[in-house]
Amino acid sequence: DPKAPLIITIDGPSASGKTSVARRVAERLGIPYVSSGLLYRAVALLGLREGASPEEIEAHLERHHLELRPTPKENRVYLDGEEVSAALHSLEVDRRVSAVAQRPSVRAYVNQVLRQIPPPFVVDGRDMGSVVFPQARHKFYLTAQPEVRARRRVSEREADFRTILGDILRRDAADQKQSAPAPDAVVLDTSRLGLEEVVEAVLEHLRDP
Ligand code: DC
Repeated sequence: DPKAPLIITIDGPSASGKTSVARRVAERLGIPYVSSGLLYRAVALLGLREGASPEEIEAHLERHHLELRPTPKENRVYLDGEEVSAALHSLEVDRRVSAVAQRPSVRAYVNQVLRQIPPPFVVDGRDMGSVVFPQARHKFYLTAQPEVRARRRVSEREADFRTILGDILRRDAADQKQSAPAPDAVVLDTSRLGLEEVVEAVLEHLRDP
């Protein structure tokens, strides 16, 4: 819809490259990038701080205030007024976040925080085009073969290919519900493309939908 506010969604399974692509597309367009995963991470951090299980966090989320402010360089996340951005990539948060993100009322809460961010922006996640911003002007869904995604991850971290591939296949299965492409998303298989080639493909669609 050309009259819809400028929201560009980039969804896909884990390690599909959506974050790198979304960042780069936003940079090329000169508009903010928004990471929806950071908000799930902030909820996981809240649970860790309060010693609460994912079920317990779900019950008292409404008592807390969560906000994401995109800046040209980075996303700042505020939890009850305190900037917590630097604490969102710890190992503990990494381990917790997936269970937290499975809870339906956590998802509803995060979605409502995301919908308060003023456009224009490029946002990445599992379900941005399908659930959160069904009215987005442009929607993309990145896929890549699991082996390709595992190889990309291995070069990012010090870990062994089989472990990472196993992890990716498990996460694909767990995330299946929130990871179906929106019916009107442009699906790009990036298995044989480098980052800049995917970015070019996205920009090409924006110029000539
Ligand atoms: O993209 P990330 O690694 O920061 O995401 C953190 C976790 O949150 C990951 O387990 C996937 C989940 N997530 C989600 O379920 N839905 C989103 N829109 C974004 C992230």
